[in-house]
Amino acid sequence: MKQVLITGASGGLGYGLVQSLCENGHRVWAAVRKPESMKDLQSKYSSLLTVVKIDMTNSSDVDQAFAEIQSKLDSTKEFVLVNNAGIAVGSPVESLAIEEWRNLYEINLFGPIRLIQKFLPTIRKTKGRIVNVGSISGRISSPFLAPYSSSKFALRSLTDSLRREVSPLGVKVVLIEPGPTKTNIWSRSLEHGQELETKMTDDMRAVYGKQVQSLRKGVEKTARDAIGVEAVVECMVDAIENENPKFYYLVGKNICLMALVARFMPTRILDKMLMSGFRGIKD
Ligand SMILES: NC(=O)c1ccc[n+]([C@@H]2O[C@H](COP(=O)([O-])OP(=O)(O)OC[C@H]3O[C@@H](n4cnc5c(N)ncnc54)[C@H](OP(=O)(O)O)[C@@H]3O)[C@@H](O)[C@H]2O)c1
Repeated sequence: MKQVLITGASGGLGYGLVQSLCENGHRVWAAVRKPESMKDLQSKYSSLLTVVKIDMTNSSDVDQAFAEIQSKLDSTKEFVLVNNAGIAVGSPVESLAIEEWRNLYEINLFGPIRLIQKFLPTIRKTKGRIVNVGSISGRISSPFLAPYSSSKFALRSLTDSLRREVSPLGVKVVLIEPGPTKTNIWSRSLEHGQELETKMTDDMRAVYGKQVQSLRKGVEKTARDAIGVEAVVECMVDAIENENPKFYYLVGKNICLMALVARFMPTRILDKMLMSGFRGIKD
């Protein structure tokens, strides 16, 4: 039995992971913004599951959750932090307001750093582990996905450095890198994208309007072709339970191939490939 804190547990991968870990008999803290989102699972697994409130942008939420968890912790059992909460934002670099960049980074990068700093002493003491949820977008920089992609590149780099810092202390650090998976992240991102589009200046719309439309169509298609959450949750469970977890769990349709292409394909060809989906790019 391990003790696991999962952020972003209200839906998608986080929710699936909470369910699987409770099924396997682990003690789970599900961190959500709205506790009512966990009602069903809480009544089903009342002896194993506790819901805590964490908005990734709010450091006092993290302090409060830490105090609550600390008071119930069994120091003889491994503690695992799963940094799963995240949002996806796509936009031309030029037109996205700096406040939007900041909010995305608060959730996808500074939030995980905040949690790592808070819980690492506990993780060190219990020889536990940290599981960060990155993305294949943390290896490939598609045009108009810089906000999301750059946050996941940063998370991947953070994960690599951290692993090299704390593995001598007995702490394991793992990165999950899913490809497109059927969760609400897609509809949320499309909705947010529409909101951003309405905020674009006429000038920006004239320059990038067609590409933003292509991006929306691309996202809709990718969402339709995405895999189910089970395969990704299975990897997350392995990352938590396996005595010797992998460093990286690349999971999804052709994801290993994509990672290889991103690493070894000459940049000129890779650029052409990634730009080809954007109609009007030469207009
Ligand atoms: N689905 C994919 O195709 C895919 C692919 C690669 C990587 N990923 C990564 O997988 C992770 C989980 O995403 P998902 O696909 O399961 O998406 P999801 O269904 O949209 O779930 C995202 C979770 O993050 C939470 N969240 C968002 N903003 C937050 C904030 N400010 N504070 C705390 N929690 C917040 C959401 O909580 P609320 O309900 O309160 O908003 C939700 O629980 C993310 O890191 C994502 O980048 C997903």
